[in-house]
Amino acid sequence: MADFDVIVLGGGPGGYVAAIRCAQLGLHTACIDDRLDAAGEPRLGGVCLNVGCIPSKALLESSHHYAFTRDALAAHGIHAGQPELDLATMQARKEGVVQTLTHGIASLFAKHKVTHISGYGRLAPARTVALTPLDGGAEQTLQAAHIIVATGSRPVELADIPFDGERVVDSTGALAFDEVPGRLGVIGGGVIGLELGSVWSRLGSKTHLLVRGDRFLPMCDAQIADAALHDLREEGLNIRLQSRVEAVKVTPRQIAIHYQDPDGAQRLIVDRLLVAVGRRPNTGDIGAEQVGLKRDARGFIEVDADCRSNLPGIYAIGDVVRGPMLAHKASEEGVAVAERIAGQRPEVDYASIPAVIYTAPEIAWVGRSSEQLSADGIDFRSGVFPFRANGRAHANGDTRGLVKILAETGSDRILGVHIYGAHAGELIGVAVTAMTFVAAAEDLARTIHAHPTLSEAIHEAALAVDGRPIHI
Ligand code: FAD
Ligand code: NAI
Repeated sequence: MADFDVIVLGGGPGGYVAAIRCAQLGLHTACIDDRLDAAGEPRLGGVCLNVGCIPSKALLESSHHYAFTRDALAAHGIHAGQPELDLATMQARKEGVVQTLTHGIASLFAKHKVTHISGYGRLAPARTVALTPLDGGAEQTLQAAHIIVATGSRPVELADIPFDGERVVDSTGALAFDEVPGRLGVIGGGVIGLELGSVWSRLGSKTHLLVRGDRFLPMCDAQIADAALHDLREEGLNIRLQSRVEAVKVTPRQIAIHYQDPDGAQRLIVDRLLVAVGRRPNTGDIGAEQVGLKRDARGFIEVDADCRSNLPGIYAIGDVVRGPMLAHKASEEGVAVAERIAGQRPEVDYASIPAVIYTAPEIAWVGRSSEQLSADGIDFRSGVFPFRANGRAHANGDTRGLVKILAETGSDRILGVHIYGAHAGELIGVAVTAMTFVAAAEDLARTIHAHPTLSEAIHEAALAVDGRPIHI
């Protein structure tokens, strides 16, 4: 008899959520994870809770308060003087937030009777997992009727620019600086570069982002990306497009980055360097080859729309499979796989997965951009409403940004919503709900939004799709 109904490999937002849902459905479930905290104790939560979503948002929030106090409080008639930065306390607060949430998962496991096994797991024949305990104990073999692989991802390391953990760092290193770098270089103009670049820029680093492409945030609607680029530069981030790094020389005193841009050869001197050029799946050492688990050329486990791998009873979810590397996508796949194992027939609505970049203001979207719809040959109407015409934005003192709604011509079905502005990450929820329920722009236009709220900009953008906004 199998040891468990389900073994989940990996305890991040994909794995731990899958394990809890399996247990809720009455399946005898174990979750194997290899992460330890600084004291050597097992730590659930994966990248997201430990070195990703949560600590980055803790530092974004703290650094925002610091910069707001320094730069914007006086406009409200409040003079607090020059704020003093206590980075050690800021970092300790971040660690406290992480601890609270990761311990919370351990409690949820206990409540739902999920067996948490601390160790490194590898797939082995006959639906077994070879477990190497982290305490040096003997290797064990565990068998399950079903296995869910949720081993996540790690940062891409460039061959010529190895991480040293202190001055040339990945996101984990940049979340843990114990002093504000005087000059910070960032290679990569993606989500991590912008979020962590913003943190250190707000705290006083002169921050330079070297972006390879000629378009800023190519995954965003171009109108939104252009507006964000303008404001981020105003905020102090030195964002250099079309900058191709050729060499990085690290000396005890400084880091010299040699790169080419449209003006020719350039050199940038910084004190610390964050390399954030994407992440790759953790599938190199999970026994995939030994059991014949199919992966694509980039190492992602090949799965169908239901997250089934080529091997019966073995599923894969989250960052190890196709699709956006986002915590909420991993969790939804985890829930869906658990329910499938229990005999239900859930579906993940991949077309309605929101994305948020937590800059100030935030950038959030769901569905397709104008450029994607044009490329797909779809006729659409677009409604745009700027926050400078929104009463609450004025009262709050931040009128940057806009809402853009894209709806199919004829059916009026909403195909994409793009928000750039304060609290965009919260506001996008309305749009996700609308798209999930296959709403038309007219449905949003007929929905009553409270006054005065930022969400009225969504209402107005929906009215604008039909050329009838009131306040612009
Ligand atoms: P992971 O969270 O990577 O978890 C996998 C776990 O499995 C890890 O603990 C790993 O150590 C363990 N593991 C790996 N191999 C084995 C093995 N063989 N045996 C046992 N255990 C193993 N996403 C968002 O949606 N919103 C955000 O704001 C956001 N911010 C981010 C900020 C940063 C700095 C980073 C780096 C990422 C961020 N992400 C964000 C992405 C998000 O963290 C990932 O998409 C998410 O963690 C993926 O979840 P997962 O469960 O697939 O894998
Ligand atoms: P990214 O894919 O967002 O951006 C990578 C950037 O590096 C791009 O600008 C790309 O053009 C550039 N690049 C790639 N190879 C390069 C090279 N060899 N030299 C120079 N530039 C190069 O990846 P990032 O920022 O590392 O983040 C990884 C993932 O983590 C994201 O894709 C996202 O899924 C997730 N994440 C999500 C967050 C959120 O939801 N708010 C926050 C942080 C991370």
